[in-house]
Amino acid sequence: MTRANHPWGPFDTPFEAVGGEGKLRSIVDRFYDIIDAEASTLRAMLPKDDSASRDKLYWYLVEWSGGPALYSPERGHPAMRMRHLPFEIGADEVDTWLTCFGRALDDNDVTGQVRDFLDERIGALALHMQNQP
Ligand code: HEM
Repeated sequence: MTRANHPWGPFDTPFEAVGGEGKLRSIVDRFYDIIDAEASTLRAMLPKDDSASRDKLYWYLVEWSGGPALYSPERGHPAMRMRHLPFEIGADEVDTWLTCFGRALDDNDVTGQVRDFLDERIGALALHMQNQP
């Protein structure tokens, strides 16, 4: 039996296409490690101990991609733009965030159809978070 081909490839969800919970955890940890080491403007927005930030992004990406609902039971409705309003996010911050995220995907060998899907959809989400000119 063949499975429908979705924009993210021949999997029921992007969650499965990307490689599940272990892979998303690894992507999130790499993303924050890159920010810690190289993106001082973004690092300055985060708490000194960023372990809760890591958990929240991980829970969100698992749920958003069609995996288990880890985020909403802990944090409620995502309301992502509203939750980002306390931070000044302009074009440079969007660009840096996406560069770091793209590198985390590269370093986790996320390629092909699911990579194109993530680049497009996460790119749009990041633009939606912009709240400064
Ligand atoms: C566009 C540039 C972005 C910047 C500068 C930014 C920055 C931040 C900051 C400073 C926080 C607070 C961290 C904390 O509470 O410990 C945060 C929280 C969060 N961000 Fe972003 N973010 C951006 C884009 C995104 C995108 C594209 C996503 C989703 C793919 C995302 C998902 C989240 C989540 C899930 C939280 C935690 C919300 C909560 O439950 O409190 N962010 N972000």
